[in-house]
Amino acid sequence: SAAEKGGFWSFMAKEIADQPKAVADTLLGRTNESGDLILDDARIDEATLRTIDKIIVVACGTAAYAGHVAKYAIEHWCRIPVEIELAHEFRYRDPIVTPRTLVVAISQSGETMDTLMAVRHAQEQGAKVIAIVNTHGSTIPRESDAVLYTHAGPEVAVASTKAFVSQITAAYILGLYFAQLRGNMFRDEIHTVLDELRAMPDKIQEVLDRGERVREIARWMADTSSVLFLGRHVGFPIALEGALKLKELAYIHAEGFAAGELKHGPIALIEPGQPVFVIVPSPRGRDSLHSKVISNIQEIRARGARTLVIAEDGDEAVTPFADEVFWVPQCPTLLSPLVTVVPLQIFAAELSRAKGLDVDQPRNLAKSVTVE
Ligand code: G6P
Repeated sequence: SAAEKGGFWSFMAKEIADQPKAVADTLLGRTNESGDLILDDARIDEATLRTIDKIIVVACGTAAYAGHVAKYAIEHWCRIPVEIELAHEFRYRDPIVTPRTLVVAISQSGETMDTLMAVRHAQEQGAKVIAIVNTHGSTIPRESDAVLYTHAGPEVAVASTKAFVSQITAAYILGLYFAQLRGNMFRDEIHTVLDELRAMPDKIQEVLDRGERVREIARWMADTSSVLFLGRHVGFPIALEGALKLKELAYIHAEGFAAGELKHGPIALIEPGQPVFVIVPSPRGRDSLHSKVISNIQEIRARGARTLVIAEDGDEAVTPFADEVFWVPQCPTLLSPLVTVVPLQIFAAELSRAKGLDVDQPRNLAKSVTVE
């Protein structure tokens, strides 16, 4: 009903707008009086957690992209190898799982059969499983050794949005908890990242407040038949997620690529007029990724691509090569997915709306896939 949608035109629009609160709520109550992380729902003792030598994230769809983002952060913070695997591929490939492996199962519903089967398979090999789940009392957390709930609130639209940003947030809390437990980071470093995370809801709100320009472009592009998405580092899974949203909501052929892979194949797809979203890493990053992505934009622009660029406020280097820039507030690179995904969600939803489609219940899809 209209009341349930809180005055928005769709659950999708409401859930996109709910994201600052979803992230804020997921961060609540995670620390003690000294500001150190506590994991209440972890039924795995700290001694066991200290022996972990590998993390495998299992998930499907958007939840898997949240895991892919988290891999960059957890490896950087904790120096533990993190693999990210689609749940349905994991159990059929004879994966190397031992009692020192921690499996992290990410699922909004907690009922996805492929993910549940991966959890069971991991436990049979003696691995411990931590679930990152949004739905209380669902099957995956019940069967897991520990659970870290995301507090996104009920997600009604079939395609996931606010659950995604909460999953990244929860996986980051888990990564920082590990860094604390294993002594990989100094206490104040962890506290600084937590403070930076707590600043993200306002930054997401800022992106939402700038949404009208994204919607305008989406309406202009309503007859587009193909869109490409490029990103690098944490921007790579965001490119994949941007493409997935567009397929799910607007039935448009869309593909995401790692920007560095462009010259190894995808650049052959570029012809005059091809729209390409590019997620540009912060120019304040320590490495040269920013300039490499700027070169990618030049390369595709020279071949006639229409470049739709997501860049950080103040990054004037992008403007000469961008047909359109969607600006996002400055934030640390690892936290940037929480803001860069938002214009892509708004774009897909508005394009779906412009095409007159059912944005909340796209054809052929189910909110929770409880069959294998
Ligand atoms: C379905 C939904 C997706 C979701 C995926 C995983 O395919 O349509 O939006 O990302 O399942 O669902 P889960 O509940 O496990 O996160």
